[in-house]
Amino acid sequence: MLLTIVAGARPNFMKIAPIIRAINKSKSEGKNIDFRLIHTGQHYDKSMSGSFFEQLNIPDPHANLNCGGGTHAEQTAAIMIAFEKELLANPCDWVIVVGDVNSTLACSITAKKLHIKVAHVEGGIRSNDWKMPEEINRLVTDSITDVFFTTSEVANNNLRDSGVTNDKIVFVGNTMIDTLLYHQNDLNAPTLWKEEGLEVGNYVVMTLHRPSNVDDAQQLQGIFKAIRTSLKDIPVVFPVHPRTLKNMEQFGIEPENVIKTGPLSYFEFNYLVKNAKGVVTDSGGITEETTVMGVPCITMRNSTERPETVDIGTNELIGTEPVALQKSLAQLVSGDWKQGSIPEKWDGRAAERIIKWFVEV
Ligand code: UD1
Repeated sequence: MLLTIVAGARPNFMKIAPIIRAINKSKSEGKNIDFRLIHTGQHYDKSMSGSFFEQLNIPDPHANLNCGGGTHAEQTAAIMIAFEKELLANPCDWVIVVGDVNSTLACSITAKKLHIKVAHVEGGIRSNDWKMPEEINRLVTDSITDVFFTTSEVANNNLRDSGVTNDKIVFVGNTMIDTLLYHQNDLNAPTLWKEEGLEVGNYVVMTLHRPSNVDDAQQLQGIFKAIRTSLKDIPVVFPVHPRTLKNMEQFGIEPENVIKTGPLSYFEFNYLVKNAKGVVTDSGGITEETTVMGVPCITMRNSTERPETVDIGTNELIGTEPVALQKSLAQLVSGDWKQGSIPEKWDGRAAERIIKWFVEV
Protein backbone atom coordinates (compact mmCIF):
# COMPACT_ATOMS: atom_id res chain seq x y z
CA MET A 1 0.00 0.00 0.00
CA LEU A 2 1.40 3.39 -1.01
CA LEU A 3 0.44 6.46 1.01
CA THR A 4 1.22 9.91 -0.36
CA ILE A 5 1.69 12.29 2.55
CA VAL A 6 1.27 16.03 2.04
CA ALA A 7 2.95 18.73 4.10
CA GLY A 8 3.08 22.40 3.25
CA ALA A 9 3.16 24.80 6.16
CA ARG A 10 4.89 24.94 9.53
CA PRO A 11 2.05 23.45 11.61
CA ASN A 12 1.98 20.41 9.29
CA PHE A 13 5.53 19.26 9.91
CA MET A 14 5.09 18.14 13.52
CA LYS A 15 1.95 16.24 12.48
CA ILE A 16 3.59 14.20 9.71
CA ALA A 17 6.85 13.33 11.51
CA PRO A 18 5.35 10.61 13.76
CA ILE A 19 3.27 9.21 10.88
CA ILE A 20 6.43 8.65 8.83
CA ARG A 21 8.13 7.06 11.84
CA ALA A 22 5.17 4.70 12.31
CA ILE A 23 5.18 3.74 8.61
CA ASN A 24 8.90 2.98 8.73
CA LYS A 25 8.42 0.85 11.83
CA SER A 26 5.57 -1.07 10.26
CA LYS A 27 7.62 -1.56 7.07
CA SER A 28 10.55 -2.90 9.09
CA GLU A 29 8.17 -5.43 10.63
CA GLY A 30 7.44 -6.73 7.13
CA LYS A 31 4.12 -4.98 6.51
CA ASN A 32 3.23 -3.97 2.96
CA ILE A 33 3.20 -0.22 3.46
CA ASP A 34 5.25 2.65 2.06
CA PHE A 35 5.00 6.40 1.52
CA ARG A 36 5.87 9.29 -0.73
CA LEU A 37 6.32 12.64 1.00
CA ILE A 38 5.30 15.74 -0.93
CA HIS A 39 6.19 19.25 0.29
CA THR A 40 3.97 21.81 -1.40
CA GLY A 41 6.40 24.61 -0.59
CA GLN A 42 3.67 26.77 1.01
CA HIS A 43 6.22 27.64 3.71
CA TYR A 44 9.67 27.87 2.27
CA ASP A 45 12.00 29.80 4.62
CA LYS A 46 14.49 27.65 6.51
CA SER A 47 13.10 28.98 9.77
CA MET A 48 9.53 28.03 8.78
CA SER A 49 10.30 24.69 7.14
CA GLY A 50 13.89 23.35 6.81
CA SER A 51 14.75 23.51 10.51
CA PHE A 52 11.66 21.40 11.32
CA PHE A 53 12.71 18.71 8.85
CA GLU A 54 16.16 18.59 10.46
CA GLN A 55 15.07 18.55 14.10
CA LEU A 56 12.11 16.22 13.68
CA ASN A 57 14.13 13.85 11.50
CA ILE A 58 11.72 14.08 8.60
CA PRO A 59 13.28 12.60 5.45
CA ASP A 60 13.79 14.80 2.40
CA PRO A 61 10.52 15.04 0.47
CA HIS A 62 10.29 12.94 -2.69
CA ALA A 63 9.13 16.14 -4.40
CA ASN A 64 8.83 19.82 -3.55
CA LEU A 65 6.12 21.63 -5.50
CA ASN A 66 7.59 25.07 -4.66
CA CYS A 67 4.20 26.77 -4.42
CA GLY A 68 4.88 29.38 -1.74
CA GLY A 69 3.46 32.92 -1.60
CA GLY A 70 0.66 34.56 -3.55
CA THR A 71 -2.99 35.07 -2.71
CA HIS A 72 -5.11 32.20 -1.41
CA ALA A 73 -6.48 31.46 -4.89
CA GLU A 74 -3.05 31.70 -6.50
CA GLN A 75 -1.46 29.46 -3.89
CA THR A 76 -4.28 26.90 -3.91
CA ALA A 77 -4.41 26.76 -7.70
CA ALA A 78 -0.62 26.42 -8.04
CA ILE A 79 -0.57 23.53 -5.56
CA MET A 80 -3.45 21.76 -7.33
CA ILE A 81 -1.77 21.98 -10.73
CA ALA A 82 1.56 20.70 -9.43
CA PHE A 83 0.05 18.00 -7.19
CA GLU A 84 -2.07 16.62 -10.05
CA LYS A 85 1.12 16.10 -12.07
CA GLU A 86 2.73 14.41 -9.07
CA LEU A 87 -0.20 12.00 -8.60
CA LEU A 88 -0.44 11.18 -12.30
CA ALA A 89 3.27 10.34 -12.38
CA ASN A 90 3.16 8.46 -9.06
CA PRO A 91 -0.21 6.82 -8.46
CA CYS A 92 -0.93 5.86 -4.86
CA ASP A 93 -3.64 4.18 -2.81
CA TRP A 94 -4.32 7.00 -0.38
CA VAL A 95 -3.44 10.67 0.03
CA ILE A 96 -2.95 11.71 3.65
CA VAL A 97 -3.53 15.39 4.39
CA VAL A 98 -3.11 16.96 7.83
CA GLY A 99 -4.50 20.06 9.51
CA ASP A 100 -6.27 22.94 7.83
CA VAL A 101 -3.87 24.93 5.67
CA ASN A 102 -4.25 25.77 1.98
CA SER A 103 -2.10 22.75 1.06
CA THR A 104 -4.60 20.48 2.87
CA LEU A 105 -7.49 21.82 0.82
CA ALA A 106 -5.66 21.88 -2.53
CA CYS A 107 -4.30 18.34 -2.28
CA SER A 108 -7.49 16.72 -1.01
CA ILE A 109 -9.51 18.12 -3.92
CA THR A 110 -6.85 17.10 -6.43
CA ALA A 111 -6.64 13.54 -5.09
CA LYS A 112 -10.38 13.06 -4.95
CA LYS A 113 -10.83 14.15 -8.58
CA LEU A 114 -8.30 11.50 -9.57
CA HIS A 115 -10.38 8.94 -7.61
CA ILE A 116 -7.70 8.52 -4.96
CA LYS A 117 -8.96 8.08 -1.42
CA VAL A 118 -8.33 10.90 1.04
CA ALA A 119 -7.44 10.50 4.72
CA HIS A 120 -7.65 13.63 6.87
CA VAL A 121 -5.56 13.71 10.02
CA GLU A 122 -7.17 16.17 12.49
CA GLY A 123 -10.49 15.98 10.62
CA GLY A 124 -13.73 17.19 12.13
CA ILE A 125 -12.63 20.20 14.16
CA ARG A 126 -14.68 23.37 13.65
CA SER A 127 -14.38 26.98 14.77
CA ASN A 128 -17.68 27.88 13.08
CA ASP A 129 -16.01 31.13 12.03
CA TRP A 130 -16.29 31.31 8.26
CA LYS A 131 -14.03 34.36 8.13
CA MET A 132 -11.08 32.10 8.94
CA PRO A 133 -9.49 30.63 5.80
CA GLU A 134 -8.69 27.51 7.85
CA GLU A 135 -12.39 26.91 8.55
CA ILE A 136 -13.18 26.91 4.82
CA ASN A 137 -10.25 24.54 4.29
CA ARG A 138 -11.61 22.18 6.98
CA LEU A 139 -15.18 22.22 5.68
CA VAL A 140 -14.22 21.55 2.07
CA THR A 141 -11.63 18.91 2.93
CA ASP A 142 -13.99 17.09 5.28
CA SER A 143 -16.78 17.10 2.70
CA ILE A 144 -14.69 14.81 0.44
CA THR A 145 -12.65 12.86 3.02
CA ASP A 146 -12.88 9.04 3.06
CA VAL A 147 -11.45 8.46 6.52
CA PHE A 148 -11.11 10.91 9.41
CA PHE A 149 -8.38 10.47 12.01
CA THR A 150 -9.64 12.60 14.86
CA THR A 151 -8.19 14.28 17.94
CA SER A 152 -11.27 14.51 20.17
CA GLU A 153 -14.82 13.39 20.86
CA VAL A 154 -15.91 16.94 19.94
CA ALA A 155 -14.50 16.39 16.44
CA ASN A 156 -16.25 13.00 16.24
CA ASN A 157 -19.56 14.63 17.13
CA ASN A 158 -19.07 17.45 14.61
CA LEU A 159 -18.60 14.82 11.92
CA ARG A 160 -21.60 12.76 13.02
CA ASP A 161 -23.71 15.94 13.08
CA SER A 162 -22.75 16.59 9.47
CA GLY A 163 -23.84 13.10 8.43
CA VAL A 164 -20.53 11.20 8.51
CA THR A 165 -21.01 7.57 9.48
CA ASN A 166 -19.07 6.02 12.38
CA ASP A 167 -17.14 3.63 10.12
CA LYS A 168 -15.29 6.61 8.63
CA ILE A 169 -14.32 8.13 11.98
CA VAL A 170 -11.19 6.81 13.71
CA PHE A 171 -10.48 8.52 17.04
CA VAL A 172 -6.70 8.25 17.31
CA GLY A 173 -5.53 11.21 19.41
CA ASN A 174 -3.19 14.00 18.42
CA THR A 175 -0.12 13.56 16.19
CA MET A 176 1.14 17.03 17.13
CA ILE A 177 1.30 15.80 20.72
CA ASP A 178 3.08 12.60 19.58
CA THR A 179 5.89 14.87 18.42
CA LEU A 180 5.88 17.01 21.54
CA LEU A 181 6.13 14.02 23.88
CA TYR A 182 8.68 12.23 21.71
CA HIS A 183 11.05 15.22 21.83
CA GLN A 184 10.67 16.33 25.46
CA ASN A 185 14.34 15.64 26.15
CA ASP A 186 15.53 17.39 22.99
CA LEU A 187 14.12 20.82 23.88
CA ASN A 188 16.87 23.38 24.33
CA ALA A 189 17.21 27.05 25.23
CA PRO A 190 17.61 29.54 22.38
CA THR A 191 20.65 31.84 22.55
CA LEU A 192 18.41 34.70 23.63
CA TRP A 193 17.76 32.87 26.93
CA LYS A 194 21.16 33.88 28.29
CA GLU A 195 21.41 37.13 26.37
CA GLU A 196 18.15 38.36 27.85
CA GLY A 197 18.68 36.79 31.26
CA LEU A 198 15.43 34.80 31.15
CA GLU A 199 14.43 32.80 34.21
CA VAL A 200 12.14 29.79 34.48
CA GLY A 201 8.55 30.88 35.15
CA ASN A 202 9.30 34.57 34.86
CA TYR A 203 8.62 35.56 31.24
CA VAL A 204 5.78 35.35 28.73
CA VAL A 205 5.89 33.99 25.16
CA MET A 206 3.71 35.67 22.53
CA THR A 207 2.88 34.61 18.96
CA LEU A 208 0.48 36.39 16.61
CA HIS A 209 -0.20 35.78 12.95
CA ARG A 210 -3.97 35.76 12.36
CA PRO A 211 -5.37 38.47 10.07
CA SER A 212 -7.83 39.45 12.86
CA ASN A 213 -4.88 40.52 15.04
CA VAL A 214 -2.09 41.50 12.70
CA ASP A 215 -3.72 43.00 9.60
CA ASP A 216 -5.04 46.05 11.45
CA ALA A 217 -2.49 48.59 12.73
CA GLN A 218 -4.70 49.79 15.59
CA GLN A 219 -5.39 46.25 16.81
CA LEU A 220 -1.72 45.32 16.75
CA GLN A 221 -0.75 48.55 18.55
CA GLY A 222 -3.47 47.86 21.12
CA ILE A 223 -2.03 44.42 21.89
CA PHE A 224 1.48 45.80 22.41
CA LYS A 225 0.06 48.55 24.62
CA ALA A 226 -1.82 46.02 26.77
CA ILE A 227 1.36 44.00 27.13
CA ARG A 228 3.36 47.07 28.15
CA THR A 229 0.78 48.15 30.71
CA SER A 230 0.29 44.70 32.25
CA LEU A 231 3.76 43.19 32.18
CA LYS A 232 6.03 45.94 33.39
CA ASP A 233 8.78 43.77 34.89
CA ILE A 234 8.10 40.53 33.08
CA PRO A 235 9.91 40.03 29.77
CA VAL A 236 7.85 39.06 26.72
CA VAL A 237 9.50 36.96 24.01
CA PHE A 238 7.91 37.48 20.60
CA PRO A 239 9.04 35.17 17.77
CA VAL A 240 7.63 37.05 14.80
CA HIS A 241 5.86 35.21 11.97
CA PRO A 242 6.86 36.47 8.46
CA ARG A 243 3.32 37.67 7.82
CA THR A 244 3.30 39.70 11.06
CA LEU A 245 6.76 41.10 10.37
CA LYS A 246 5.67 42.36 6.95
CA ASN A 247 2.69 44.13 8.53
CA MET A 248 4.73 45.65 11.36
CA GLU A 249 7.18 47.06 8.85
CA GLN A 250 4.37 48.40 6.70
CA PHE A 251 2.58 50.00 9.67
CA GLY A 252 5.84 51.31 11.13
CA ILE A 253 5.25 49.49 14.45
CA GLU A 254 8.36 48.83 16.53
CA PRO A 255 7.35 47.68 20.02
CA GLU A 256 9.97 48.57 22.62
CA ASN A 257 8.62 46.39 25.35
CA VAL A 258 9.08 42.97 23.74
CA ILE A 259 12.05 40.77 22.91
CA LYS A 260 11.56 40.40 19.16
CA THR A 261 13.13 37.45 17.37
CA GLY A 262 12.62 35.59 14.10
CA PRO A 263 10.67 32.31 13.99
CA LEU A 264 12.36 29.84 16.34
CA SER A 265 13.12 26.19 15.75
CA TYR A 266 10.77 23.58 17.24
CA PHE A 267 13.11 22.61 20.08
CA GLU A 268 13.86 26.22 21.05
CA PHE A 269 10.28 27.40 20.83
CA ASN A 270 8.89 24.60 22.95
CA TYR A 271 11.68 24.99 25.51
CA LEU A 272 10.58 28.60 25.90
CA VAL A 273 6.92 27.61 26.18
CA LYS A 274 7.56 24.81 28.65
CA ASN A 275 9.38 27.14 31.04
CA ALA A 276 7.20 30.23 30.57
CA LYS A 277 4.89 31.87 33.07
CA GLY A 278 2.32 31.86 30.31
CA VAL A 279 1.68 32.21 26.59
CA VAL A 280 -0.31 34.76 24.59
CA THR A 281 -1.21 33.45 21.15
CA ASP A 282 -3.71 33.27 18.30
CA SER A 283 -2.46 29.89 17.09
CA GLY A 284 -4.51 26.73 17.46
CA GLY A 285 -1.70 24.20 17.72
CA ILE A 286 0.06 26.10 20.50
CA THR A 287 -3.07 25.86 22.67
CA GLU A 288 -2.76 22.06 22.41
CA GLU A 289 0.92 22.10 23.31
CA THR A 290 0.42 24.40 26.32
CA THR A 291 -2.40 22.15 27.50
CA VAL A 292 -0.10 19.13 27.46
CA MET A 293 2.76 21.03 29.13
CA GLY A 294 0.39 22.54 31.72
CA VAL A 295 1.35 26.12 30.84
CA PRO A 296 -1.30 28.91 31.13
CA CYS A 297 -2.41 30.06 27.67
CA ILE A 298 -4.33 33.20 26.65
CA THR A 299 -5.85 32.93 23.18
CA MET A 300 -6.64 36.18 21.39
CA ARG A 301 -9.45 34.88 19.21
CA ASN A 302 -13.25 34.84 19.31
CA SER A 303 -13.57 31.14 18.57
CA THR A 304 -11.60 27.95 18.79
CA GLU A 305 -11.79 24.71 16.86
CA ARG A 306 -10.09 23.06 19.83
CA PRO A 307 -12.57 23.61 22.70
CA GLU A 308 -11.02 20.79 24.77
CA THR A 309 -8.00 23.06 25.37
CA VAL A 310 -10.38 25.41 27.21
CA ASP A 311 -12.75 22.87 28.81
CA ILE A 312 -10.04 20.43 29.88
CA GLY A 313 -6.73 22.24 29.36
CA THR A 314 -5.03 25.45 30.46
CA ASN A 315 -6.31 27.67 27.65
CA GLU A 316 -8.64 30.68 27.97
CA LEU A 317 -10.34 32.17 24.93
CA ILE A 318 -10.58 35.93 25.54
CA GLY A 319 -11.58 37.49 22.19
CA THR A 320 -9.45 40.09 20.46
CA GLU A 321 -9.98 43.20 22.62
CA PRO A 322 -6.74 44.52 24.15
CA VAL A 323 -8.64 45.38 27.35
CA ALA A 324 -9.52 41.68 27.78
CA LEU A 325 -5.84 40.86 27.35
CA GLN A 326 -4.96 43.27 30.15
CA LYS A 327 -7.47 41.56 32.44
CA SER A 328 -6.15 38.07 31.66
CA LEU A 329 -2.53 39.13 32.05
CA ALA A 330 -3.34 40.54 35.50
CA GLN A 331 -4.80 37.16 36.42
CA LEU A 332 -1.74 35.39 35.03
CA VAL A 333 0.64 37.63 36.97
CA SER A 334 -1.28 37.05 40.21
CA GLY A 335 -0.76 33.30 39.74
CA ASP A 336 -4.49 32.64 39.73
CA TRP A 337 -4.75 30.31 36.71
CA LYS A 338 -6.74 27.10 36.34
CA GLN A 339 -5.01 23.72 36.52
CA GLY A 340 -5.72 21.76 33.38
CA SER A 341 -5.58 18.08 32.55
CA ILE A 342 -4.75 16.18 29.37
CA PRO A 343 -7.42 15.25 26.81
CA GLU A 344 -8.18 11.60 26.05
CA LYS A 345 -5.67 9.78 23.82
CA TRP A 346 -3.19 12.67 23.72
CA ASP A 347 -0.64 10.10 24.81
CA GLY A 348 1.99 10.04 22.08
CA ARG A 349 0.52 7.08 20.18
CA ALA A 350 -1.82 8.69 17.64
CA ALA A 351 0.37 8.00 14.59
CA GLU A 352 0.79 4.39 15.65
CA ARG A 353 -3.03 4.04 15.71
CA ILE A 354 -3.31 5.66 12.27
CA ILE A 355 -0.85 3.25 10.67
CA LYS A 356 -2.43 0.28 12.44
CA TRP A 357 -5.69 1.24 10.73
CA PHE A 358 -4.02 1.30 7.29
CA VAL A 359 -2.33 -2.04 7.88
CA GLU A 360 -5.58 -3.66 8.91
CA VAL A 361 -7.88 -2.05 6.34
C1 UD1 B 1 -0.43 29.56 7.24
C2 UD1 B 1 -1.76 28.83 7.44
C3 UD1 B 1 -2.19 28.95 8.90
C4 UD1 B 1 -1.11 28.50 9.84
C5 UD1 B 1 0.13 29.33 9.55
C6 UD1 B 1 1.27 28.95 10.47
C7 UD1 B 1 -3.33 28.86 5.56
C8 UD1 B 1 -4.59 29.43 5.08
N1 UD1 B 1 -2.82 29.43 6.64
O1 UD1 B 1 -0.67 30.94 7.41
O2 UD1 B 1 -3.33 28.12 9.09
O3 UD1 B 1 -1.52 28.72 11.17
O4 UD1 B 1 0.51 29.06 8.20
O5 UD1 B 1 2.42 29.61 10.15
O6 UD1 B 1 -2.84 27.92 4.98
N2 UD1 B 1 5.99 33.65 4.13
C9 UD1 B 1 7.34 33.84 4.16
N3 UD1 B 1 8.13 32.74 4.39
C10 UD1 B 1 7.62 31.51 4.61
C11 UD1 B 1 6.23 31.35 4.60
C12 UD1 B 1 5.43 32.42 4.37
O7 UD1 B 1 7.84 34.94 3.96
O8 UD1 B 1 8.38 30.55 4.78
C13 UD1 B 1 5.11 34.78 3.85
C14 UD1 B 1 4.30 34.51 2.59
O9 UD1 B 1 4.96 34.88 1.44
C15 UD1 B 1 3.05 35.33 2.83
C16 UD1 B 1 2.91 35.28 4.34
O10 UD1 B 1 4.16 34.92 4.89
O11 UD1 B 1 3.20 36.66 2.43
C17 UD1 B 1 1.82 34.33 4.75
O12 UD1 B 1 2.12 32.99 4.35
P1 UD1 B 1 0.92 31.94 4.02
O13 UD1 B 1 1.46 30.59 3.85
O14 UD1 B 1 0.10 32.49 2.91
O15 UD1 B 1 0.00 31.99 5.29
P2 UD1 B 1 0.34 32.03 6.85
O16 UD1 B 1 -0.10 33.34 7.38
O17 UD1 B 1 1.75 31.60 7.09
